[in-house]
Amino acid sequence: MLLVVAAFIVAFVLLLYMISPLISPNPLKLNGAHVVVTGGSSGIGKCIAMECYKHGAFITLVARDEHKLVQAKKEVEKCAINDKQVVLCISVDVSKDYNQVESVIKQAQEKLGPVDMLVNCAGTSISGKFEEVEVDRFKKLMEVNYLGSVYPTRAVVTTMKERRMGRIMFVSSQAGQIGLFGYTAYSPSKFALRGLAEALQMEMKPYNIYVTVAYPPDTDTPGFAEESKTKPLETKLISETSGVCQPEQVAKIVVKDAVQGNFTSSFGPDGYMLSALTCGMSPVTSITEGLQQEAFVELYGRQRDSVFRSSWSSIVTVFGLAALGAVGLTIGAYLAQK
Ligand SMILES: NC(=O)c1ccc[n+]([C@@H]2O[C@H](COP(=O)([O-])OP(=O)(O)OC[C@H]3O[C@@H](n4cnc5c(N)ncnc54)[C@H](OP(=O)(O)O)[C@@H]3O)[C@@H](O)[C@H]2O)c1
Repeated sequence: MLLVVAAFIVAFVLLLYMISPLISPNPLKLNGAHVVVTGGSSGIGKCIAMECYKHGAFITLVARDEHKLVQAKKEVEKCAINDKQVVLCISVDVSKDYNQVESVIKQAQEKLGPVDMLVNCAGTSISGKFEEVEVDRFKKLMEVNYLGSVYPTRAVVTTMKERRMGRIMFVSSQAGQIGLFGYTAYSPSKFALRGLAEALQMEMKPYNIYVTVAYPPDTDTPGFAEESKTKPLETKLISETSGVCQPEQVAKIVVKDAVQGNFTSSFGPDGYMLSALTCGMSPVTSITEGLQQEAFVELYGRQRDSVFRSSWSSIVTVFGLAALGAVGLTIGAYLAQK
């Protein structure tokens, strides 16, 4: 009897896997598509632009520094697969003035046609202990990482809805899935993207527009190198538990997920596990994605969660004890002098 039930469950799961592609979104054709990449002049954004260009897309790179934009354009152009492809550069601060962002997106659409895929990758990171981070940095990170994604998205959705097609990607971070030591300013700005993406996906699905939230791990980029200069040691040690990835590898995965219309895009076994553990009530765009999440949470849920947390907590505890020890020694030395 047990065998029959097991065979029935296996057959049912297999059937769901087989019909999954039939009810998933149709993949976006990148060949000839217009892809706008904010933060496209450096790091992950530049590699996403290169990856899309390798598939025949037309690209608009958005960032502030014109010199970096020109350099990135040259690198992206090397990935061309036909001589019709174009790379357009737009210099604008995506976090400051919505009207300006709307106007430059309009110009890009006039030149390269309606936007098929928007990649919100412009962002920055600051790490430090809560009370040591300058107060205005909290505001700055929300402006760049959150509003800097809201504004370009607002500027493209009306046309996407009219055309009943489109992809919108938000580049969050693993620190947008779990709050970690040193990221009290950064994490909330990346968590906010998920809230935005979940609500937006519900509004956009009837228009055949699919939203993807990417959660990259530590990635070897100029931005990462800059942030590492001031990272607290605890944050560094926690980060080191999962290694550093290359931006080209991250770009490949996130572009593939966005093309397929997957809501969540994660990288590597740890990233995948973290996404499954923190999926909450996030939308799933295919039966396969839903089944995999269910299986992971049931099988590994709390055990894996406590493994992650306890190893990170022990790093912070060891530092706390060391700090207490140092204070104790200082007081002891002071009392001994007296
Ligand atoms: N590298 C990592 O370890 C990692 C991990 C997880 C998530 N992420 C996220 O991935 C994204 C890219 O990170 P990255 O490491 O590739 O950074 P990066 O090398 O510093 O590149 C950041 C890009 O964003 C642009 N940018 C920054 N602020 C902007 C603004 N206000 N308006 C317009 N463009 C702006 C920069 O150009 P300008 O300065 O010229 O404007 C640059 O093109 C960020 O959102 C980051 O939070 C990174």
